[in-house]
Amino acid sequence: MKDKLEALKAEALTKLQAVNDPQILNDLRVKYLGKKGELTEVLRGMGGLSAEERPVIGQVANLVRSAIEEVISAKQELFQQQETESRLNAEKVDVTLPGRGLPQGGIHPLSRVLQEIEDIFIGMGFRIAEGPEVETDYYNFEALNLPKNHPARDMQDSFYITDDILMRTQTSPVQVRTMQAANGESPVKIICPGKVFRRDDDDATHSFQFHQIEGLVIGRNIRMSDLKGTLQQFTKEMFGPSAGIRLRPSFFPFTEPSVEVDVNCFKCGGSGCRLCKQSGWLEILGAGMVHPNVLRMGGYDPEVYSGFAFGMGAERIAMLKYGIDDIRYFYTNDMGFVKQFKGI
Ligand code: DAH
Repeated sequence: MKDKLEALKAEALTKLQAVNDPQILNDLRVKYLGKKGELTEVLRGMGGLSAEERPVIGQVANLVRSAIEEVISAKQELFQQQETESRLNAEKVDVTLPGRGLPQGGIHPLSRVLQEIEDIFIGMGFRIAEGPEVETDYYNFEALNLPKNHPARDMQDSFYITDDILMRTQTSPVQVRTMQAANGESPVKIICPGKVFRRDDDDATHSFQFHQIEGLVIGRNIRMSDLKGTLQQFTKEMFGPSAGIRLRPSFFPFTEPSVEVDVNCFKCGGSGCRLCKQSGWLEILGAGMVHPNVLRMGGYDPEVYSGFAFGMGAERIAMLKYGIDDIRYFYTNDMGFVKQFKGI
């Protein structure tokens, strides 16, 4: 029996030493040490041994078992180590590699300009007002002193939803809406940024949809000099301290007198260049003193109250400020274009 045990030990150790797969190692463990394993099998014969032999053989059997167990656990440890090592190798990180940058968004140049314009006017005590983009003919035209069949309507053909409802062609309807809400007495000092729509062809300087910023100030003794001072301050903050303005006579049905406002060309400083078409000036907005008919329509008595108004195109301001030569860049989401404004 002792020989049998020694032979079993020798065989088991040789086989176990040669193993290099954890699964096979486990199979061998079951084969030799398991409940139905070979060692148990041999020990079952112990019942036939004499009382003197039994402890001796028992001791041998224990030695065989612990020899086999020792090799198994050494192997298990080895496999564990190998596995950890190969996992670490697979997960190895080269800390010297340069980092992969996360793409970072930026504010669209148009939003940026709108925000900037809002900030400047808020700084001068203006409040932001809003109005609907789908507007009635009354607010978009009639209340602004543009009765039906007025020739000035031609310049602002729009998208009509019904004969009387249209996509607003200008932010000016917010003037009358604001005045009416202010009950004919309180002073008004608002700007209204927003989308406007026109039946225009799309080209480098026209789009069927663009943005305007309307301004309206109503109170007692509001004069043209207030308009000029306000706009002068705005242009300096928007285009730089050397930006001067000039007012040219113009016509808008809702203002009298009306002016067009130019800023001196910040590219050439006024000497004439391609941007200002050699004139030294860039047109930036329309403005004027609120027409008495519009004041009346808004519920204000023109004998007591006066006011000024202005309206500018946000895209135009952004194009001038950043030297953009095609309005379509704002809407086509070309990454090459938008990326240039990151971090400005
Ligand atoms: N609404 C005019 C337009 O779309 C711009 C404008 C001009 C607005 C003069 C005004 C203004 O408030 O006083 O062309």
